[in-house]
Amino acid sequence: MPGHKRPTLGDATRGRILFGGDYNPEQWPEETWHEDVRLMKAAGVNSVTLGVFSWAKLEPAPGAREFGWLDTLMDLMHTADVGVVLATPTASPPPWMGHLHPDTLPVDRDGRTEWWGGRQHFSHSSATYRRYAAAITEDLAARYGDHPALTMWHINNEYCTYDWSEQAAARFRDWLRERYGDLAALNEAWGTAFWSQGYGDWAEIHTPRHAHYMKNPGQVLDFKRFTSDMLLECYTAERDIVRRATPHLPVTTNFMPLWVGQDAWRWAEEEDVVSVDLYPDPRDPLGAQHGALVQDLTRSQARGPWMLMEQAAGPVNWRGVNHPKPHGLNRLWSLQAVARGADAVCYFQWRQSRQGAEKFHSAMVSHAGEEGRTYQEIKRLGADLARISAEVTGSHSAAEIAILHDWHAWWAGDQEGRLSHEVDHPAVLRAWHRALWEAGLATDFAHPEHDLTGYKLVVVPQLYAVTDTAIDNLLAHVHAGGALVAGFLTGVADADDRVRPGGMDARLRELFGIRTLHEWWPLDADERVETDGFRGTLWSEELEQTGDATVEAAYKGAELDGLPAVLRNGRAWYVSTLPEPDAFRTLLARIAADAGARPVLDGLPPGVEAVRRGELLFLLHHGRDPVTVRLPGAHHDLLTGTTFTDEVTLGRYGVAVLRP
Ligand code: GLA
Repeated sequence: MPGHKRPTLGDATRGRILFGGDYNPEQWPEETWHEDVRLMKAAGVNSVTLGVFSWAKLEPAPGAREFGWLDTLMDLMHTADVGVVLATPTASPPPWMGHLHPDTLPVDRDGRTEWWGGRQHFSHSSATYRRYAAAITEDLAARYGDHPALTMWHINNEYCTYDWSEQAAARFRDWLRERYGDLAALNEAWGTAFWSQGYGDWAEIHTPRHAHYMKNPGQVLDFKRFTSDMLLECYTAERDIVRRATPHLPVTTNFMPLWVGQDAWRWAEEEDVVSVDLYPDPRDPLGAQHGALVQDLTRSQARGPWMLMEQAAGPVNWRGVNHPKPHGLNRLWSLQAVARGADAVCYFQWRQSRQGAEKFHSAMVSHAGEEGRTYQEIKRLGADLARISAEVTGSHSAAEIAILHDWHAWWAGDQEGRLSHEVDHPAVLRAWHRALWEAGLATDFAHPEHDLTGYKLVVVPQLYAVTDTAIDNLLAHVHAGGALVAGFLTGVADADDRVRPGGMDARLRELFGIRTLHEWWPLDADERVETDGFRGTLWSEELEQTGDATVEAAYKGAELDGLPAVLRNGRAWYVSTLPEPDAFRTLLARIAADAGARPVLDGLPPGVEAVRRGELLFLLHHGRDPVTVRLPGAHHDLLTGTTFTDEVTLGRYGVAVLRP
């Protein structure tokens, strides 16, 4: 809407960290609702998300409306001073919809229909689905837009579906017409001269369904772009409806962390509040780092405070083996999210279900009820959040290092015919983030075409396909005095996934001091390559450097003996393998130090993470044995009310939120 000033998360928090979760009261009798309110109040819950999967309850037959139960709940929440994030229920259409309108059901790549009986069985391209979704959204907005409990809109839930149906194929052709204009341009972009794939009529184009052998990578890449765009259309259609009714209220949809199917940079531009669901495995020794990565990425997409829409208070039930969170871990990981910019700490879900597919998934109130450890820890966390809310909400944090990530580069590189299926894009990204995280360095994420001004170091774990604009941006960053470090398989292809002459863009080769990239030498899963400083994994390269570049590490032994593994050309570094973790941490710490980027706090004991948010210094202890951290001067801990002069001791999973 022209002139519309976009609301922010601050309009919903009003100075309180949002604390609560998905609330599915339709699974419970009404007396439980009153018990819920009592427990919510005791735990300091101030926000619930209602209606995420309530479509069949709200619209039991086509066009029917049953709002009475939701009216009661909205009023109940208002009386209790618990804000409502109201969801549109469009992630799980009622059974009647698929039954009456088979065109609302998605089809998989083998042409099999995805039936109702689970969830997310909607075809993003179905006009019928979109019509029903718009109608229920209109009516929710009209009925509850003025309700005093309403604080925010939550559209759908974890948009994540693909669709290879006939209606998707029709929309795909429209999307391609829009992108390419004519078939000649499409044939050129997809390289259809290969294997007799030239298209002579738009009607011949379908979604990339199951094929005998490797599919055309251009077609697959565009199908991924198309899918992200179609889901985004579903989101913006519903968003625009609620926005018209309540322009003053923020709108969000929850991302899955680092989900492959959505160009989340593009999506974030369409959201007032960026929110994410985060479920690190409590048994994963790198669970905290996985959380930190997702939090850094989400904060960067939000360009400020963001919403942790869902996490688990205990076990999930969708891994092979699902472990509970040991005592204190839920609090630690929640405060880690706040440290990294979250102004909302919420859960799936409020009360653990007794029926349905997720009855063994934890909740804030577990099957053990009020006496259960889970709820007791939730109560403690609620009190902690109340203590820090006023000084935390709305504040920003700055990083000196930006890690570049781009979904299109990921999609393009993730093709069937790549040289190594051991190279997994998110795993490479995690390895780079891990090295920086373990070195105590704060990181933002950025899109390769974003303004990089102000970053001392730009880190490119892997940008297989890269646009000319992005290359200009990287060169400009280095020419302006910034440092850059890039990993293997960067700059290989253009935006159409056409390999750039020489196997890497010529300007990038010049930047890194690479004269010739002779061959890529991928490594098997358990294979290592020796260098004179460390051992490399996953990948190695047969490179020849220019005269200006210095070899910072060279391959040792075997075929690549003596050739550069790490190259440096002034402020630009190139790492042609993935060093083992300890060596990688040392290498990136050195590159960062050279670029003038400092760790958040020097001399931290192992397992302790320091994060700055605004004026506050968060110390997070990821281990179980007490540790003592030396402080740069006296600090006041907002959680305990204690002032520490020069050191603080943190117990098992301990946290301090320190104001200088
Ligand atoms: C996702 C969904 C929730 C629930 C949880 C379980 O985050 O949004 O509805 O299924 O997973 O972990």
